[in-house]
Order: sequence, then structure tokens, then C-alpha cells
Amino acid sequence: MQVAGSVFLVTGGGSGLGQATVRHLAVHGARVVIVDLDAPAGQSLVAELGEQARFVTADVAHAQAMQQAVTTAVEAFGALHGLINCAGTVLGCKVVNREGEPHPLESFARTVQVNLVGTFNAIRLAAKLMAQGPAGADGERGVIVNTASVAAYDGQIGQAAYSASKAGIVGMTLPLARELAAYGIRVVTIAPGVFATPMMASLPEQVRTTLGEQTPFPARLGHPSEFAALVQHVIEIRC
Ligand SMILES: NC(=O)c1ccc[n+]([C@@H]2O[C@H](COP(=O)([O-])OP(=O)(O)OC[C@H]3O[C@@H](n4cnc5c(N)ncnc54)[C@H](O)[C@@H]3O)[C@@H](O)[C@H]2O)c1
Repeated sequence: MQVAGSVFLVTGGGSGLGQATVRHLAVHGARVVIVDLDAPAGQSLVAELGEQARFVTADVAHAQAMQQAVTTAVEAFGALHGLINCAGTVLGCKVVNREGEPHPLESFARTVQVNLVGTFNAIRLAAKLMAQGPAGADGERGVIVNTASVAAYDGQIGQAAYSASKAGIVGMTLPLARELAAYGIRVVTIAPGVFATPMMASLPEQVRTTLGEQTPFPARLGHPSEFAALVQHVIEIRC
């Protein structure tokens, strides 16, 4: 699939990896529906990109709101060829904290709800639409790119909820890819290391520096534009 001329829905497109992906896809000739909880961020991106972009305020874990986002792609651009799942939330919380208090159940559940259930919610709605679309070269009808994390495989203390949510994305990738292959829809999950985004900016400078130094090569945080370039490669690997 070529990025140019195709229609993509990018969740979490208002910030960080999602925002870089929206810009990258738009610069390369795609039309993009941005989904995010952060309305000002999404609206300012649409103001920057013009007619190539639309914004829908939605919680990815909300069935009706995400249906509206998928419908917007069809109403505005006539089709949906790809879904890029970048919406996510991070949580650092020990199972038993210094005061001996247990991890709140609500924050564990919310992390899984946004990162895992939200990703699946977007996939099921987008896949239904893509499966009904006309087939391109080799019978291709769509591509779905999910964002897991290194924490899916190598979680640290305090990352029980985040790692579980991301491992869930990794775990569902293969059954989804096997099932949706019948419709010509590819499903790929990227597990990024540490990237310089607003999510990471919430950490102290010293922690960010240490995380960068722990990366074997290059010893720095990733640039969101590097993630976006990988997304383009995943989309276009079937040209
Ligand atoms: N930055 C990193 O180092 C890193 C590493 C590995 C994985 N990731 C993953 O990459 C994805 C993007 O992260 P980022 O660093 O760009 O974060 P970010 O905080 O900069 O961007 C995340 C975006 O998702 C949106 N969002 C959050 N909850 C949402 C919801 N329920 N519905 C709709 N939108 C929602 C936020 O408003 C924000 O715009 C996340 O899934 C994150 O877990 C990030």
C-alpha cells in the first residue's frame, strides 16, 4: 500500500509518536483522521494540515466515540485504508508502596482499558470497514499498526499495569493478523524503546538522561520522526 492517496486513522495523534506519524503521513500525501482526547492539540494539527486532516475527540476505549471516528474517515475521505494505534497512557505504581498500601485497582484497570481495550476497540471497528472495502494489489484491503512497548517484554518495577497492557497488545497481534489476513488486512505491532515525547517529558531530566544512556546504540532517546518513518515502511512494505 502506498501512503500517498490513502486514508489513515491515527489514535493519539495529538501528541508524541502519534502526532509525528500524522505529520509524516500527511507530508507524504495521505489523508488522516486524528483521534485524541486532547481537543486543542488535535484541532491545532488540523489547522496546520488543512483539508488533508480531520479531528475527532474520542476516548479510544469508548465504543460509540470510536465508531464516530471511523465514520468520519468515510464521510470526509470516502474510505479507510489504515489504522495506526498510538493512543496510550503510562503508569508507574508499585504493587505495594512504601506505606504498605496496595496498588489501586482503578489505575490498573484504567491503564489496561486505554492501552489494550482501546487498541482493540479501534481495531475491531476499523477492520470491519476495511474488510468491506475494495481490494488493491495482491488483494490488500488495509493495514493496522499497533504501538506496544519494550515494557511488554522487559517491564520494570512499577510497570505491572503498563507492561500487562502492552503485553496484551503483543499477545493479540498474531491471532488478529491470522484472522484478518483472510480479508487482505495486515496487522503489525511496533514495540518502541524510549522516545522523546511529552509522555517521557513528564519524567525528571536525570531519569531521561539515564534512560538514553542505557540504550546500547545510539545512546539517546528515539526521535518521534524515526517512529513515523517505521510506520511508513510497514505500510509500504507491500507496494
Ligand atoms: N514515548 C516512549 O518512550 C514510548 C515507548 C514505548 C511505547 N510508547 C507508547 O507509544 C504511544 C504514544 O506514546 P507517546 O510517548 O507519544 O505519548 P504522548 O503522551 O505524547 O501521546 C499520547 C496521546 O494519546 C492520547 N490519549 C491518551 N489516552 C487516550 C484515550 N483514552 N483516548 C484517546 N487518546 C488518548 C493523549 O491525549 C496523547 O495525545 C503510547 O501507546 C505509549 O505507551 C511510548
